[in-house]
This record gives sequence, structure tokens and C-alpha cells, in this order.
Amino acid sequence: MPYIYVTRRIPEEGLKLLKERGWDIYIHEDELPPSREELLRRVQGADAILSLLTDKIDKEVFDAAGENLKIVANYAVGYDNIDIDEATKRGIIVTNTPGVLTDTTADFGWALLMAIARRVVEADQYARSGQWKTWGPMLMLGTDVHGKTLGIIGFGRIGRTVAKRAKGFDMNVLYYDPIKADEETERQLNAKQADLDTLLKESDFIVICAKLTPENRHLLNKEAFKKMKNSAYLINIARGPIVDEEALVWALKNGEIKGAGLDVFEHEPKIHPELIKMDNVVLTPHIGSASEETRGKMAQMAASSIVAVLTGKIPENIVNPEVLKK
Ligand code: DGY
Repeated sequence: MPYIYVTRRIPEEGLKLLKERGWDIYIHEDELPPSREELLRRVQGADAILSLLTDKIDKEVFDAAGENLKIVANYAVGYDNIDIDEATKRGIIVTNTPGVLTDTTADFGWALLMAIARRVVEADQYARSGQWKTWGPMLMLGTDVHGKTLGIIGFGRIGRTVAKRAKGFDMNVLYYDPIKADEETERQLNAKQADLDTLLKESDFIVICAKLTPENRHLLNKEAFKKMKNSAYLINIARGPIVDEEALVWALKNGEIKGAGLDVFEHEPKIHPELIKMDNVVLTPHIGSASEETRGKMAQMAASSIVAVLTGKIPENIVNPEVLKK
């Protein structure tokens, strides 16, 4: 009987697809991820792993799992936690959960953007604290969003959906991505491809939507922050290491940029202690895709991929399609 290791409890919509097969399933029930030691122990003999972005799935894990392992279904669209080359070499299929979380994540990018521009979190704390005495002409002045320039780094599904929402705010959109969108898409989204320097210099808001690659680690470094407008805001809903967090702290302290809305961090779940002290940042614990509806769909998608592979079918959303040629 196939053995499936699920590295954390995911919504029941997904688990039921596995349970109804009567397979041997082990679900790591703790709120925290399995320790490395436990991960290496529990993967032994697994036919499938349903992993999370908090699990590092590498050569050592594949070795520990052994010959049976056929699929790693990652419960995320990003898969930088998995050594894809190693999986491919061993003929192991890796899948992710794209599409179902696009709108939810783009919505959250906007939630952060609006929150930081209009000081929603600061104002909420002020209102609750009893400091509010009267309506004030200068009270909690923020920055307008409408009519500004939005720079999007990574113009894939999520980036384009962030741009779509910008239309309602009459914004100009610049995007930085090696792949140029077709003319119709650019026209519809009022978006223009730009080089990184232009985007950094001209944007009032920059939203990072790119997947993490070795090439874009620390793409936003000191040099990049120096090029941004002093009045600009940075929003990151992608992966923390795309931003050099030390450089971001420097930029915020020195007025190189005005603020930041961050859902992801360089060393999650650690947040740079200086960021925690700042009023001009909004910090959230990597919840971009965290709606009940979307997390349920992600669970179904990841479980369906496992069902497909273990019943001899080809799953959707293979991130290493080369593996099929093996
Ligand atoms: C992802 O899917 O990569 C997000 O970061 C979590 O939903």
C-alpha cells in the first residue's frame, strides 16, 4: 500500500482525497514544521511527500526516502525549498499549486499597498489606544495611491493580476520581467515593460511578485534602494531573499524610501528587529494566499497530483516536466 507523508495538517478538502483511497498516510499534526531529524525519519519508504515551503527537500531527503518516492507535491506555487535538479535526476515528479492562489495573493499585495500608503495599521493602533482627541487636518496623512506609477517585479500570473487591480486606481504600470507580455495584455493592463533601473527610478509603489531564483537573490540591495524615489514604497508578496533585508532597514532608516509592506522575510519566521520597531512598515506572517477558499483549493490540487501519480496518471502542474522524458 502506498505511503504518503504529509508534513503538516492541510485543509480537509485535500486530505479527504488521499484518505478515501485507503492509503497509509502520516500527517504531521504539530503547528510547527517537523524537525530535520523527524523529516528524514518520516520520509523513509514514502511513495509521495506532500511538502510545505517550510520543508527543505534536498538530496539528503531523497536519499532518506529511498527508491519508492515518485512525487513531491508542494503546497505552494513557489518551490525554491526543493532541489528540483536532484528530483529530476532521480525521476521524481515535483508539482506546485499555481493559479488557484493568484487572485488571493494579488488581493493581499493590494491590502499591504493600501495599508502602508494610508497608514491603516498605525491609525488602527492610534484609534484603539485612546490617543484620538479630535478630527485633525494633519492627522495621519498618508500618500495617495490613485494616479501613481506602480512598478511590478515579476510579471507572471500574480504580477499581472496585481496590475489588473491597478486599473481601478488609474495607475501607470511598469513591469520588470525577462518575458515581454503581448501587446494586447500590455494595452489591457496599461503596462509597459521596463528595465530594472527605470522601474526603480520611476515607480511610486514597487510590488515584488517574482519567484525566487539564484539570479534574483538580493535583487533589491543598497544600490537599488538608492535609485528608488525617497517617497516610494516597497511591497513584497513573493519571497524574502529577493530583498536584502539589511539593506532595506538601511534604506528605511536613511529615508531612501518611505515605507514597506512585507509579507515575506529573508529568514522566516525571523524578522529583522529594526523592522519591528518601525512605524512606516506593515509586517504580516507570509499569509498572501491565506484565505479559506484558496487554502482549500491548494490542498485539493496538491492531493490530486499525488493521486494522479500513484494511480499511474500524469498530474497537472509539474514543475520539472523533463522528468517525464526519463
Ligand atoms: C506560495 O504559494 O508560494 C506562497 O508563498 C504560499 O502560498
